[in-house]
Amino acid sequence: MQSTQNVSALPGFVVLGIALVCTIVLPSPVAAETGAEAWLRYSALNLQAATIYQQLPEKTVLLGDSLVLKTAQWELVQAVSQMLGRSLHAEDGSSPEHAIILGTLTQLSVLDPALHPPPELRADGYWLKAAKIHGSQCLVIASATDRGVLYGVFALLSKIARGESLAALDEVQQPYAPVRWVNQWDNLDGRIERGYGGPSIFFAEGKVRADLTRAGQYGSLLASVGINGCTINNVNAAPGILEDGFLAQISRIADVFRPWGVQLSLSVDLSSPKVIGGLDTFDPLDPRVAEWWRKKVDEIYRHIPDFGGFVVKADSEGRLGPSTYRRTPADAANVIARALKPHGGVVFYRAFVYNHHLDWRDLKNDRAKAAYDNFHPLDGAFDDNVIIQIKNGPIDFQVREPASPLFAGMHRTNEAIELQITQEYTGQQRHLCFLVSMWKEVLDFDMRIKDPHIDANATPVKALVAGRVFHRPIGGFVGVANVGMDANWLGSPLAMANLYGFGRLAWDPNLSAEKIVDEWTRLTFGSDPLVVKTLTAMQLNSWRVYESYTGPLGAGTLTNILGNHYDPGPESSEENGWGQWHRADHQGIGMDRTVATGTGFIGQYPPEVQQLYESLEHCPDNLLLFFHHVPYTYVLYSGKAVIQHVYDSHYDGADRARDFVSQWQTLNGHVDRDRYRDILGRLQYQATEAIAWRDAICTWIFRLSRIPDDKGRVGTEPRR
Ligand code: GCU
Repeated sequence: MQSTQNVSALPGFVVLGIALVCTIVLPSPVAAETGAEAWLRYSALNLQAATIYQQLPEKTVLLGDSLVLKTAQWELVQAVSQMLGRSLHAEDGSSPEHAIILGTLTQLSVLDPALHPPPELRADGYWLKAAKIHGSQCLVIASATDRGVLYGVFALLSKIARGESLAALDEVQQPYAPVRWVNQWDNLDGRIERGYGGPSIFFAEGKVRADLTRAGQYGSLLASVGINGCTINNVNAAPGILEDGFLAQISRIADVFRPWGVQLSLSVDLSSPKVIGGLDTFDPLDPRVAEWWRKKVDEIYRHIPDFGGFVVKADSEGRLGPSTYRRTPADAANVIARALKPHGGVVFYRAFVYNHHLDWRDLKNDRAKAAYDNFHPLDGAFDDNVIIQIKNGPIDFQVREPASPLFAGMHRTNEAIELQITQEYTGQQRHLCFLVSMWKEVLDFDMRIKDPHIDANATPVKALVAGRVFHRPIGGFVGVANVGMDANWLGSPLAMANLYGFGRLAWDPNLSAEKIVDEWTRLTFGSDPLVVKTLTAMQLNSWRVYESYTGPLGAGTLTNILGNHYDPGPESSEENGWGQWHRADHQGIGMDRTVATGTGFIGQYPPEVQQLYESLEHCPDNLLLFFHHVPYTYVLYSGKAVIQHVYDSHYDGADRARDFVSQWQTLNGHVDRDRYRDILGRLQYQATEAIAWRDAICTWIFRLSRIPDDKGRVGTEPRR
């Protein structure tokens, strides 16, 4: 019998982690925290809260000895010690009495054939069960896979951290979709495209970092919410990532992900066979190109046997692609997919393909149409291990967009939704903006596909991307995360709710935003009722507040799209080829995307959705200017004219941003000092920025419309 965990058998970062754990001072409510542990703080429970875990077994038994299983047991032991001050003895399976038992279903059935795991349990799903084994009370954490056992451990620890009872535990959790990946847009020089949390945790000065401690910790954060893949480099990929000498370096990152069941993947440049391969072409239909990819992929798998696959951005924003040779995205995706197929790898081919030199004077041009126009005709032409990665909206992560019609436009092709965790257009982590509320609206949006082959009543985006509607073999969720070396990962402790929320939604998109933020708050700040009530309300309101002082009614963020994507800059959207037009002029505002008189974009949706958006009568106010060009005097459902709504919304939004400051101030003394001050400073800054946004947009639209504000605020000295 092995009485304690054999520490030397664990990977270096785990050992390092143990050392770290030993030096952690258990936090009291006012002790300083950096946010580095994010939602995995495992803070000590107070005596009263801990009493409900008195019956927790004294030891943990591991059935099996894989790296991931060992990690699961290690995590359990450390976290229970931190939260409950109890040392769980870590043992093997020879004496399973009164234990927390970790193992796969196969191992469990050997241990006790009388246990009957739920038949629906498969893949990375897990079962948490209080059960009698050989007559003694045990707690079972079981899964079909090692990784599922790890997920089950994290779920159990989350329950303890939030003070949930474990009595009569009998819970089955099954991931909604197989793909739950994050993309990092890290460059090899260490900078991160649209990253607001410091430099890359993977790369510095053209090399993989010598110290990958943070990358390992990131692996644990990802695994704790069920994320199973991470693409480590920018979609605007440097071909050098595939250079022979670089792959050995990359494999070190895979090594620190592996204990957490996170598969590493790479973004690749389609011109690589030419740029680094020495061929005179990268034409996907040239056999030499196919051979190059095959050899390259074989080599990758020699370095990284559990490699996940590739992400491809091509024919987009200046990236080379198959159009160079008049080939299609399917030609390009399939040649790479065939190289990956024998190894089990997949290709994520991004649908973000558009012409950024569109003629803005042509009112029929519309960037929103590009993804559907490019990919819908290719439905069925992609190999089974290709996934089309589609941004949530048809433009580019704006504060409000309708769901991309492409989700409904491919019935014989795998799909994944791409959501942006990093807040490129939503305040760049300097503004509070909880995006789960936005993502939920898109995921729940029913595309109302009517097809005799569909056995479902509804066809929401979440079901489409998970492959549930058209019975696709693979699909799911991708989040652009962009964590960095900042201690708190994303540059703001509150922004981490978005990373947490992405993972939770990818696991179960039916979870409510309220449930997700409640969990995150308790895990990140503790369960003080005032903290939970105040902070959850702030998070849940924050997206609409941000929208209201930046760009209401679906006009877009009205941000500086030619520069930093942060400051107000409504004029930058117009008179250029980028296609983020709002068409504001002296008479009215909004893009006419109707079939009847506009760009025809609405025609890309299934008929019932077309009806919803095509008529002014049915189009929801919050997307009005995305679909219609209307006079400033057009009256909304609310009874207000568009122009007055814009004024009121900006003033109301700025007021509510200011209220965040006073709401946060009620928590003084209820959260640790450092995070309290840090967040207070951020919210105060946001309040002043909201006023700047309000004044810039109101002044701009007043100058265009010449219609005064009913309440006399616009055009006069701004109210402070
Ligand atoms: C946005 C973003 C770019 C990024 C691109 C993409 O346009 O501003 O930095 O490269 O999206 O998703 O490929």
